[in-house]
Amino acid sequence: MPTTLIRNGTVVTATETKAADVLIEGARIREVRSAIPPESAEKTIDATGMYVIPGGIDAHTHLDMPFGGTTSADDFLTGTRAAAFGGTTSIVDFAIQGRGTKMRDALDTWWKKAEGRAVIDYGLHMIVTDLGTSGLEDMDEMVDEGVASFKLFMAYPNVLMVDDATIFKALSRTAKNGALICMHAENGSVIDVIIAKALAEGKTAPIYHALTRPTRAEAEAVHRAIAMAEIAGVPVYIVHLSSEDALHEVREARDRGVPAFAETCPQYLLLSIEELERPNFEGAKYVFTPPLRTKENLPKLWDGLKHDHLQVVSTDHCPFCFEDQKILGKDDFTKIPNGGPGIENRMQLIYHHGVNAGKLSLNRFVEITSTTPARIFGMYPRKGEIAAGSDADIVIWDPKAPYTISSKTHHMRVDYSMFEGYQVQGNARTVISRGEVIVDGGEFLGKPGRGEYLRRQARGGAWR
Ligand code: URP
Ligand code: ZN
Ligand code: ZN
Repeated sequence: MPTTLIRNGTVVTATETKAADVLIEGARIREVRSAIPPESAEKTIDATGMYVIPGGIDAHTHLDMPFGGTTSADDFLTGTRAAAFGGTTSIVDFAIQGRGTKMRDALDTWWKKAEGRAVIDYGLHMIVTDLGTSGLEDMDEMVDEGVASFKLFMAYPNVLMVDDATIFKALSRTAKNGALICMHAENGSVIDVIIAKALAEGKTAPIYHALTRPTRAEAEAVHRAIAMAEIAGVPVYIVHLSSEDALHEVREARDRGVPAFAETCPQYLLLSIEELERPNFEGAKYVFTPPLRTKENLPKLWDGLKHDHLQVVSTDHCPFCFEDQKILGKDDFTKIPNGGPGIENRMQLIYHHGVNAGKLSLNRFVEITSTTPARIFGMYPRKGEIAAGSDADIVIWDPKAPYTISSKTHHMRVDYSMFEGYQVQGNARTVISRGEVIVDGGEFLGKPGRGEYLRRQARGGAWR
């Protein structure tokens, strides 16, 4: 088996920071300690001045996803390659059960999308749109296939939204099969009434996407989701949490000892509602749900991350090109495909605006971008750790590297960046996936299709 030694770096995990070398044998880490003799390996990588961190895990992506009459612009090749450039070595994407169809069909469809394309390892959540007559047994079958989590929508009536009975049945089933329910928490019925009024008043511009989705509609749904999970006696995970109002509900539940977990995304930490007012329809670039909020929310979310009221930063990467996809909603904001690109820049943005800005420790950065998503989603300690026996998914992170984010140079297949012109310090220099260097010094070395499906464990982590 090929061996590689990463020498002279500082190994940073969720719990410690230490000078140590890392010996890789084949796809796994064999040893982590100081002064491993160079002759122990066929190849050495010098990591002087670098951090050696577990590969990033983005637990919320939408590659090649049909939505709003179009399909997200990155497929499993372009999306996972862009992820790798940014230091992410695993993703968890979403398969979507079609109404009235088997979850198995959706799983097969998403496996086909990834086959021959994914360059990093990928897991799949299942979006449940309908429990029908056999949906609960379908969920158990999915768990046997390594789909250890399900997403349910409390928003998008008539498209993806499910009623409370369905949510409660799905939550209750996880007491038996050990899966985790992820909730898109917004009160879709209320939002739809507000939207109808806005449209009737001729309010069609992108900004009305945000103005018709109040933070209370998010908070109410978070509260209801957590209450239902409590009644069912199971944990729940709130996806893409965007506001202080919603955060309050998670914090209050956690303070009572309820196993409620939540993620936020770089866009909610760094951008605010004004972006949707950009002229020439450019506000559409920032149309996703939940929407961007007022500025006061941003420091509250950072604070939530610091104090573990929020546990994960994912991207909700769901790119649509401005020129030929976002434009579908030119005369009606409800027709703008919802979603934004971000898979490539998560680690850079959270490192720079979190660690460099003094808002997060280095260990907390690793924890929220890699270790905790691995734990929560049943991949730990295979992923999210630098220790003997773990997969050699390792990023050699250059804390001094300056980088300017731009659609002119990014690798995502989308014609704009939500963070155009943002300057960060700190970037992935070398990215190793299961022992193979797939990115080095800005050059992509991986092979399409080398990424493997991650069979995730239900009830996998010490987090419960
Ligand atoms: O606007 C978004 N977030 N698009 C992706 C689908 C979802 O709700 O996560
Ligand atoms: Zn969602
Ligand atoms: Zn999403």
